[in-house]
Amino acid sequence: MTRHETLDLRKAKIAGGVATDRRHDSAHKHVTGEAVYIDDMAEPAGTLHAYLGLSEVAHGTIRALDLKEVGSAPGVVAVLTAKDVPGVNDISPAGLHDEPILAEGEVQFLGQPVFTVIAETREAARRACRLAKVEYEEKPALIDIAEVEPQGARLVTKPLTLSRGEAAEAITAAPRRLKGRMRVGGQDHFYLEGQIAFALPGEDMDVTVHSSTQHPSEVQHMVAHALGVPSHAVTVEVRRMGGGFGGKETQANLFAAIAAIAAKRTGRPVKIRPDRDDDMTATGKRHDFLIDYDIGFDEEGTILGVDLTYAARCGFSADLSGPVTDRALFHCDNAYFYPAVRAVSAPLYTNTVSNTAFRGFGGPQGMLGAERIIDEVAFALGKDPLEIRKRNFYGNGTRNVTPYHQKVDDNVVHRIVSEVEKSADYAARRRAIAAFNAKSEIVKRGIALTPVKFGISFTATHFNQAGALVHVYTDGSVHLNHGGTEMGQGLYVKVAQVVAEEFQIDIDQVKITATTTGKVPNTSATAASSGSDLNGMAAQNGARQIKNRLIDFAAEQYGVPKEQIEFLPNRVRVGNQEILFVELVKQAYMARVQLSAAGFYKTPKIHWDRDSGRGRPFYYFAYGAACAEVSIDTLTGEYMVERVDILHETGKSLNPAIDLGQIEGGFIQGVGWLTTEELVWDGKGRLTTHAPSTYKIPLASDRPKVFNVTLADWAENAEPTVHRSKAVGEPPFMLAMSVLHALSDAVASVVDHKLCPRLDAPATPERVLMAVERLRAEMGA
Ligand code: MTE
Ligand code: MOS
Repeated sequence: MTRHETLDLRKAKIAGGVATDRRHDSAHKHVTGEAVYIDDMAEPAGTLHAYLGLSEVAHGTIRALDLKEVGSAPGVVAVLTAKDVPGVNDISPAGLHDEPILAEGEVQFLGQPVFTVIAETREAARRACRLAKVEYEEKPALIDIAEVEPQGARLVTKPLTLSRGEAAEAITAAPRRLKGRMRVGGQDHFYLEGQIAFALPGEDMDVTVHSSTQHPSEVQHMVAHALGVPSHAVTVEVRRMGGGFGGKETQANLFAAIAAIAAKRTGRPVKIRPDRDDDMTATGKRHDFLIDYDIGFDEEGTILGVDLTYAARCGFSADLSGPVTDRALFHCDNAYFYPAVRAVSAPLYTNTVSNTAFRGFGGPQGMLGAERIIDEVAFALGKDPLEIRKRNFYGNGTRNVTPYHQKVDDNVVHRIVSEVEKSADYAARRRAIAAFNAKSEIVKRGIALTPVKFGISFTATHFNQAGALVHVYTDGSVHLNHGGTEMGQGLYVKVAQVVAEEFQIDIDQVKITATTTGKVPNTSATAASSGSDLNGMAAQNGARQIKNRLIDFAAEQYGVPKEQIEFLPNRVRVGNQEILFVELVKQAYMARVQLSAAGFYKTPKIHWDRDSGRGRPFYYFAYGAACAEVSIDTLTGEYMVERVDILHETGKSLNPAIDLGQIEGGFIQGVGWLTTEELVWDGKGRLTTHAPSTYKIPLASDRPKVFNVTLADWAENAEPTVHRSKAVGEPPFMLAMSVLHALSDAVASVVDHKLCPRLDAPATPERVLMAVERLRAEMGA
């Protein structure tokens, strides 16, 4: 009996279709260590290792570069500098030629790669790096953006202005007016698997690069440019990343380029893996921001006008700072309607590492500005911030135009927030907390309920496309490939579910294969949370093409109308009879039906004109809300997250188990950003927090003591996305704003909520303590 004959023909449902809980395809391998990451791959004989020599100053001219001792150190095979780059010495994703692979003449941040050592072992390469003698003529360095006025500063890219209505007039005419500044810190990605690339030289110009990248196509192009060869000579493969979080959208380019250059130069495989300190020092992070706000509102708390400037520390090159600061502006409203608004971005040049994508891509920083405004209004009027939030929500039908002139027509924020308000018992707990605080002198509690509205799509319209490659083999098994990459988020299993559903075959019949530029070309980064939206649709399209050919074939072969052909679980009904899927496939093959297809998808409806600041950059919005309760110790600033209630909507979820994981993980990562993860550069531009000893990400013990996470089961995407699902990768990150605002609420309790704590992020224990002291001093208490 073959495997297929054991299939139950009456089976009502396939295993692993869409909208079912399905574990991550590699979950068991992640846990046992069987999952192969690049550093686990067997190294062919002769493999060499590269290590980077980094700049020791933040800004300066390289006067002398003496690498003689480096070259003669034990095990060293070659030492490379900028002049050894055979093609173009540039890996700037923005195409501005502002990011050399290896510094040429000038260094622009402390930690910038200056040279590379290739040696027989990684340890030999690493040790040899230290023997370099580099002389710099130091120049003045700009480290902190607080030192410059956004207006006069040097920008890495063109700023964006969004405006609707007459903001200045609205603010002046408003009964109440407030100004302020908020500082929002950056964040290191702290992926478990750091940056890594492994290049294998091939014949002629060819090279294959295994790269831990979210963007294989870009790595391919960058490597091709660096080598001076056509893209067809470069194949980039990614089976999985041990976390990306945006940190491997562009930052993998450097390592892939170095490995490829070294491999072609030596004719041997070359691997490069920086240690954690160098990874943190030499690769970009989340942008920190300074947000200036000037707002007008009325006595009830309705916002009438806002004027906002979002200045960001971009580092020495543009990288993705343009689109990141754009997305910050796109989220300067969060879920709130501004009757009149002017928002301007200031992507500032600094002599620090070039900042990059990080979960939310500027959106989180943008939203924090909106939530600070809400807090200011609430404190000014002595009202509960939740009341001010609800008063200013986008309406349905009216008060629904964003600062970029897109209408919000899928708004569910009212429902989500009122459901969380109920499930979290907000009103009663607020009363209980007030009673607790009245009695408790040292420990104070606080609560906050904050919404999230996050725009889904790449704001560069052309990125919103995807391809897939689907093969059906004659045993009925399916080979699936698409342009999306797997970084732990569960994209592979989701897309496999879509294909299983399309063919109505069990998911075990669908083989998920490593992303490679050789199978699906010209792909976009797996980013902007759009991985499953785009690749799910492309794979569905590929599967559907084959399915339609099978239907055409069966109709002709069996002489039945196409309408009478139906794909049932692992079988196909053709008129009155049922045939196993595999049988139909075999028959189709014998009749020379093509059983392979390239699928394609592009997101409809979206358009965006940056110059006018108008358009529909987002296909739809994803919504959620969180209610957080915290307790703080007013003597030490220490705090704890007591309870969190989350309701988040992912449309009709493709995989609720995976989505729940994304919500929990995203939230906790957001809490880390807003509480304990602090990046500190010293006056010389040296990142002093470059290891877990000084940079604190959340521990398991930092999770909320009570953590209730629910998917909105009533949700369905109003747009015809893949099975009406919604993106989930980034939106839940911003639910963590509830914790920052709960901390603010707890701090404010020391002065009976008479002053706005203006708590900056990250709200480290020090910052909480200082806010408590400052408020008490201001009140003369
Ligand atoms: N989840 C895990 N486990 N690891 C990651 O690196 N990256 C996040 C999010 N969730 C990430 C993750 C980011 S920044 C994005 S944009 C999305 O996943 C990308 O994947 P998706 O588009 O398939 O959701
Ligand atoms: Mo995510 S920051 O879009 O990679």
